[in-house]
Amino acid sequence: MLQLKDVNVFRGNTHVLHGVSLEVGEGEIVALIGANGAGKTTTLRAVSGLLPTREGSITYRPDAGAAPLELHSMQAESIVATGLCQCPEGRGIFGGLSVIENLHMGAYLRDDKQGILEDLEKIHTMFPILADRARQTAGTLSGGEQMMLALGRSLMSRPKLLMLDEPSLGLAPLVVESIFEMLADINRQGVTVLLVEQNAVMALELAHRAYVLENGVVTMSGTGAELANDDNVRKAYLGG
Ligand SMILES: Nc1ncnc2c1ncn2[C@@H]1O[C@H](COP(=O)(O)OP(=O)(O)O)[C@@H](O)[C@H]1O
Ligand SMILES: [Mg+2]
Repeated sequence: MLQLKDVNVFRGNTHVLHGVSLEVGEGEIVALIGANGAGKTTTLRAVSGLLPTREGSITYRPDAGAAPLELHSMQAESIVATGLCQCPEGRGIFGGLSVIENLHMGAYLRDDKQGILEDLEKIHTMFPILADRARQTAGTLSGGEQMMLALGRSLMSRPKLLMLDEPSLGLAPLVVESIFEMLADINRQGVTVLLVEQNAVMALELAHRAYVLENGVVTMSGTGAELANDDNVRKAYLGG
């Protein structure tokens, strides 16, 4: 569904991604793990078209039969319209708007009123707290609730591929666990997931496959279980 081939990205004069190649198949949860500064956010931003790809290719096939789109030569606005959604680091909710207003923002590219209402109902069933707090200012929600709102808002765009940048950041372990259960559920409903995480323990448990990124280079890949049992991965990312 998504394929990065030899992707090179610069930030200013800094060469951040050095030939990153990875694949996400339809229906998968793929994790990209790595230390702070490895280039995880840069990778997602390149896919979303928020950073230019200097060399290499990023192709995306929203449907199995469709012709692949060359994201590396597309604008961010047109990329969003293809059903690819990035839930940014720090969740990116609008703190001054209400919960329900934030959810509607997720559907800003849609004009199917009936479908929007149906999705809103689904999201309220999945996250009852977002229905209870519909009129509350989003900035006053707890971290976990804000993460649910960010997920709900992403789902309002009916994404085919959902990319998440460190959803566990700043959340208590139990909250992370329930957020990851929700991610598994969202994936079972047919949404493909690319998950960027420093929290390797949780990410490798959830993911079907994973890649390790070190200083802008993919150094390892395998199933979540393979990497979780790899000695080098255990030493570097799983605390022994
Ligand atoms: N705006 C920027 N200008 C120059 N370098 C940057 C900028 N943003 C990030 N970088 C550098 O790019 C590298 C990768 O950053 P990032 O993709 O945010 O890593 P990660 O998400 O894995 O923590 C880091 O070395 C960081 O210092
Ligand atoms: Mg990051």
